[in-house]
Parts: sequence; structure tokens; C-alpha cells
Amino acid sequence: MTSKNTSEKPWGGRFHHTTNNSVEKFTESVSFDYRLYRHDIMGSIAHTRMLMKVGVLEEDESNTIIQGLEAIHKEIEAGDFQWKMELEDVHMNIESALVQKVGDVGKKLHTGRSRNDQVATDLRLYLRDEIDQIRGSLQKLMGAICNLAESEAQTIMPGFTHLQVAQPVTFGHHLMAWFEMLKRDDERMVDCRKRVNSLPLGAAALAGTSYPLDREYTAELLGFERIAQNSMDAVSDRDFVIEFCSAASIIMMHLSRFSEELILWINPMFGFIDIDDAYCTGSSIMPQKKNPDIPELVRGKSARVFGDLMAMLTLMKAQPLAYNRDNQEDKIALFDVIDTLHGSLEIYAGMIPEITVNRDAMLNAASQGYATATDLADYLVKAGMAFRDAHDAVGKTVSYAIENGKALSELTLDELGEFCPNLNEDIYQYLELNGSVNARDIIGGTAPAQVRNAIASGREYLKGIQ
Ligand code: ARG
Repeated sequence: MTSKNTSEKPWGGRFHHTTNNSVEKFTESVSFDYRLYRHDIMGSIAHTRMLMKVGVLEEDESNTIIQGLEAIHKEIEAGDFQWKMELEDVHMNIESALVQKVGDVGKKLHTGRSRNDQVATDLRLYLRDEIDQIRGSLQKLMGAICNLAESEAQTIMPGFTHLQVAQPVTFGHHLMAWFEMLKRDDERMVDCRKRVNSLPLGAAALAGTSYPLDREYTAELLGFERIAQNSMDAVSDRDFVIEFCSAASIIMMHLSRFSEELILWINPMFGFIDIDDAYCTGSSIMPQKKNPDIPELVRGKSARVFGDLMAMLTLMKAQPLAYNRDNQEDKIALFDVIDTLHGSLEIYAGMIPEITVNRDAMLNAASQGYATATDLADYLVKAGMAFRDAHDAVGKTVSYAIENGKALSELTLDELGEFCPNLNEDIYQYLELNGSVNARDIIGGTAPAQVRNAIASGREYLKGIQ
């Protein structure tokens, strides 16, 4: 359906017919980019102030525009604003409402600006705030991990390689491995934020503008650390979105690994932990079930975030300079990543304190897998044997112990002596789990003293960034 009408759209001047209805539906973005309203208005206010500073707007014009924008902001917050699909996007909805509210002077707002540099600015302002929120949740989770690690600093559990019992570790140590991953994630977010924090305004459509804009001043008003140095790059660059989605994907990958472990540990066959009912769900058919749906969903949601990263890379890969409408799709992926990541971090931060630990089950599992065999080999090496020979001797000892259904610490000195020469009574303190764990008293090791150091420096890190 087309009919003659040129006046409604801000870009309608050269058009003779109104937009086809299905084209309006297909091209609109306001249904999702309305989320940028706060940052859109913030950017417009800064642009207006700058226009006044450089003499493009009179003071009263600037004041009227700013008051109008502030009133629109309030209306949106109060839920009284009418979003119109036919006005395409958040930018044109707000601009048109401004003109309606303050009259013709509102039409001066867009001087020296294009939606191309406007949307890039909005997105950067928006993402910068979201990164700060996400870091808040990430740090909350890191704090919760430190707390649990502290109460479990000397809880012994099996450490695994190949998901087979390898060597005993402390649960606190295992938890602090998660902390390390999240700390790198936090650092990645800080790094990503630096490149987000650059001002595109002034690039206009693609080539810059002939108005004497003071870009430094706009940047200062909006808290941007730098100004985009090439107008064509400024309007088309979405590296910052890709970088964020990539850092977010790494976080989701980490959360997915945590999830996998929690799912295993809550299984009664492991029985290492329990998660409070408040963070579990049941089965509609099997009354006995208590399912770890939160970790499962976080593991599952990581798939969508990775998909969004792929979508962003694919969105950008064949785009010629400068702005192309393809870029409108960036928000769908970005918003999904932000929501999913933020939601997952928040739920995790709430769930970690609800974990109860079954220390007996952990100890029992660690006792069963000949987890101190390496300690026996190390003992022999310290008594002068070559490591490969020691490895072989201990292998034979373990095989004997399995055949006789005994733990290593249950073998007599004579039995041990069959395979391992030069052993003294003191060997038992190494074969015992506590001895094994305490012996790994090296920076980064599993000894409780080291775990406490790691917790202390973890807390220092968290304090330093607040
Ligand atoms: N809604 C558009 C987007 O998200 C805003 C920029 C439109 N620019 C244009 N030249 N049509 O990318």
C-alpha cells in the first residue's frame, strides 16, 4: 500500500510516496533500540551544548532544546511516551517528539550530526554503562567465591585430570581457580571498555562536517577518553561490540565450565555439594528429583552468546566503508549478550553462597583413587632414585594395592618395601591426604596456607577496584 505523503518522516523530503507498510515493519528498529533512549538523550544534550559553545545555536535555543529533551526523558521513564514504528528508530522518535514539544527550534538539534555517528555514540555510551554493571556482578561473584574458599581452605577433595582422581587438593584451592578465571575476565572488560570509550560524534554521515564542531568539548561532556580519529571508521566501526561479545563469550565459557562441575558434584554419585532448594527445580513427573537447572541453563545459554559473537563477526566481515544499514542488526546480538551475561552472573553470585559442602564425601572420594601415588614417587626421588624409576616402582605398588583392595597408606612398610626401597616410617605422613596437600606449599599450590594467601590477594584485588 502506497499513497502520496512526504511530510511525516524526518528524511521524507525527496520522497513522493509513503513507505510501504511491510517495509516499515521490516526496517524499523525502535522495537529493540528504544533501550538506547537514555544515552541518545544524553548524547543529544551534549551535542546541543557544544553547538551553543561554538555559536551554531543561541543560548535560548539550546536551553529550549535541552529542556525539551529532559521532558521527553521523564516521559519515557514514566512510561508515558508513545513509540511509533513509522518513525523507525529511537533517534527519530525522540527528535520528532522534540519538534512536537518545542516547535521549529527542535529541528536545529540535528545540525552537524547524522544518525550514523549518533547511533555509534549511543551504543558506546550504553555499552560503557553496561560494562560497569557487568563488572559489578562479576565482582560480586568473585567475592562470593572468596568467602566459600575461605571456609573450605582445608577441605580435602580429589583433584582431577581426565575426570579421574589425580592428586588431592583443597576445595578452597579449586574454588580459587575459578576466581583466577573471573579476574582475567574482569581485566578483559576493563581493557575492552577503553576502546569503547571513544567519541564518534563529529563524523556526521561519514566524511566529517563543515560546521566548526568542538569535538573535544563533546567528548569531555560525555566522559569519552578519546575522539575517533577517522570519520569513516567512526561511523562504521563495530570492533568494540565484537570485542565485548568475545570477552563475554569467554566469561560464559568459564561459567559453563563451573556449571559442568556443579552439575557433577551435586549428582548423588559424587555427592560433594548440595545447592539450596531456592536455586534448584523439580521434575513434573519424578517426585524424587532435585535438578541443577540453574547451572544447566547457564551452560546452555553460553551457546547463544557464542552464536551472537559469530553473528557480529559475520555481520561485519564483508561490509564496505562506511555505514551500512546492516549495522542496525548489531543491537540484537549485543543486547542479547548483555542480558544473558548479566543474568547469568547475577544468578551465580546469588547461588554460590547457597552451596553446602559435604566434606566427608569429598574426603572419601580423595581417599579412593590412590591420589598420593605421586607423593610416594617424590619421596623416592628425594631419597636418590631417578624419577622414571620411582614412577615405575610406584606403579607396581599401586597395582599390588588394587589387587589387595588396600589404600596406599594401608600397606605395611614390608609390603611397600617389595617395590620401593629405602622407605622409613615417615613415608606414612606423605601417603596421607593432609600431608600430601600441606606439602604443596608453593605459590599457586594447594596447601591451605597458600589458599589463604590467594584469598587475601583476591580480596585486595576486589578492594582495589571499588
Ligand atoms: N537505526 C539505525 C541503526 O541502528 C540508525 C542509523 C540509520 N542510518 C541510516 N543511514 N539509515 O543503525
